[in-house]
Amino acid sequence: MRHPLIAGNWKMYNNVSETMRFFDDFIKLVENLEGVEIAIFPPFTSLWEAAKKTAGTKIKIGAQNVHWEEKGAFTGEISPNMLKEIPCEYVIIGHSERRQHFAESDETVNKKVRAVLKHGIKPVICVGENLKQREENLTLKVVLPQVRKALADVELLSGEEIVFAYEPIWAIGTGKVATPEDAQEVIKSIRKEIETLYNKNIAENIRILYGGSVKPDNIKALMQERDIDGVLVGGASVDPQSFYKICAYKE
Ligand code: G3H
Repeated sequence: MRHPLIAGNWKMYNNVSETMRFFDDFIKLVENLEGVEIAIFPPFTSLWEAAKKTAGTKIKIGAQNVHWEEKGAFTGEISPNMLKEIPCEYVIIGHSERRQHFAESDETVNKKVRAVLKHGIKPVICVGENLKQREENLTLKVVLPQVRKALADVELLSGEEIVFAYEPIWAIGTGKVATPEDAQEVIKSIRKEIETLYNKNIAENIRILYGGSVKPDNIKALMQERDIDGVLVGGASVDPQSFYKICAYKE
């Protein structure tokens, strides 16, 4: 069975002192929570502090981006082995904000996925359609090629080494959450696509998250869907109380 993953993408929120305060509260809140994996993705500047604070706890740490090269003259970039040293267990790749504002392409997503897998870091690969594409019924025509291109020449052993996040762009930060049924339908199609690319076993092992305006009051319904294995939370993950309520959706 796939283990639910509740992931908090802080985006460009929480500096180092705010990160320290967050974990002072959050670690106590989740201490006795069972049955979910929790991962937090702070900005690069807070990663080290986050890793120190969470060492020995059940909270995992991930980064929000990575470069595919090992080292070199790439001003402003961070390599997979730099993340490994923190240590980051996860890294978000191809978030729609990076595709939209920083020219992230399917090709660079694929390069990054292949690079981090070599270091044993699990990529959380984001895919999703915009509002126009959804209205024109193009969702799967957009999302499935994103999945295929991200996985080009990617060898998978069990499927547990990667995570997908389906994030409809129109639902991100807008308060407009996809219905659990709509999210389920797209995520099921992503799983089917992975089965075509690899096999049933790998497709059943890969965790696929939903992201887009997830809040304490809509998490339960989303998590009831068969193929939704967790959530990637933006705004509601920055505050320890609201993120705790999402992590504790089973209580
Ligand atoms: O990575 C997280 C997503 O972009 C969702 O953000 O929960 O603020 O809508 P949001």
